[in-house]
Amino acid sequence: MASLLREGFELGGRAWLNTAHQGPLPRRAAEAAGASIEQKLDPRKIPEEAFFEIPRRLRGTLARLIAADPAEVILGNSTSYGLDLLAHGLPLTDGDEVLLVEGDFPASIYPWLPLRRRGVRLRMVPAPSGALEPEQLQAALSDRTRVVCSSWVFSFTGRSIDVRALVEVCRDHGEITFVLNGSQAVGARPADVRQLGVDAIVSCGFKWLCGPYATGFAWLRRDLIDRLDYRQGYWLAQVDEIAAPPTHYELRDDLGAAAFDVFCTANLHTFPAWDTAVSLLLDVGLDTIERHDQALVQQIIDGLPNGWKLTSPRARDERSTLVFIEPGRTDTVADALGRLDAAGVDVAQRAGKIRISPHLHNSEDDIDRALSALAPAAHPL
Ligand SMILES: Cc1ncc(COP(=O)(O)O)c(C=O)c1O
Repeated sequence: MASLLREGFELGGRAWLNTAHQGPLPRRAAEAAGASIEQKLDPRKIPEEAFFEIPRRLRGTLARLIAADPAEVILGNSTSYGLDLLAHGLPLTDGDEVLLVEGDFPASIYPWLPLRRRGVRLRMVPAPSGALEPEQLQAALSDRTRVVCSSWVFSFTGRSIDVRALVEVCRDHGEITFVLNGSQAVGARPADVRQLGVDAIVSCGFKWLCGPYATGFAWLRRDLIDRLDYRQGYWLAQVDEIAAPPTHYELRDDLGAAAFDVFCTANLHTFPAWDTAVSLLLDVGLDTIERHDQALVQQIIDGLPNGWKLTSPRARDERSTLVFIEPGRTDTVADALGRLDAAGVDVAQRAGKIRISPHLHNSEDDIDRALSALAPAAHPL
């Protein structure tokens, strides 16, 4: 199986199997970034409409990605941006509870910590399987639980949660806001927010969405946007033109999610490139990408050399595009990383294991190369 988007990436002949850390920027997206740098070299070339057009276009593209209304998409610079907005904007008071998950990625945890100053209780739900399970959530809910926040795919185990089952547990219990961190999933599988049933989804743009670093978005259900007890007054979001000053100053109430965008929303250098990358993914199709990525994951699982143990899930509904493996007693992670590097294969070391995370730019050949470098027999110690 060839990579999707053939000729679309410039990886210097290496097998980049580390999208869980950073997705590669497609060549066409790099051209978009290059064009914006060219404009900045000679600022006469920066059109004034760009300050309105760039956010408008990107919001529309992201809305298509998650099958949402553009008026519910907030443009940010990270996963943390959306979580920080929720932590500060949700009307939580003394004694309310936010449930977080043991072993979740720090970006899912830290944004909620400032709430302790307000007397909000943060409780960690145990996740012995490596991700939040409905039974554990059920047991942890109390009548003061207001928010549950979990990653869709756990960065340190590769395990995926059953989003709909968890949302159902919350719905059965009462008024609970379910916040999904999609950073390790969105771009590697379809993410229709209505089907998922969550109240909010946050994601970075620089992993599975193949955008530049410092990109991210949040989607909030419309009534959740209306409930945010937080306002900001970013001038470019409030005005319709740059050339003339407003005749009066009033915060607009017709902006929807755009009222909460990161400042400098028309990020001339990152957003056009990210928009191009996401548009390319949409052209390929998220179903096609998921099939491709999962076929590569299956190839890793089926071809794992003797002596290696798969520690991430094997089952299709529990696994993700993050594959974790550990060596037996005759090999070490450090040695294997050295062999992989020498073979031109880039993976990550996470939680003491090797993490392999293939995406649409990878091919069967990339996986074959990784598997033969992992085989200790071919590389006696
Ligand atoms: C689950 C998860 N969330 C978030 C992030 C990144 O957070 P941010 O976009 O805020 O830097 C990562 C990895 O870097 C991650 O694995």
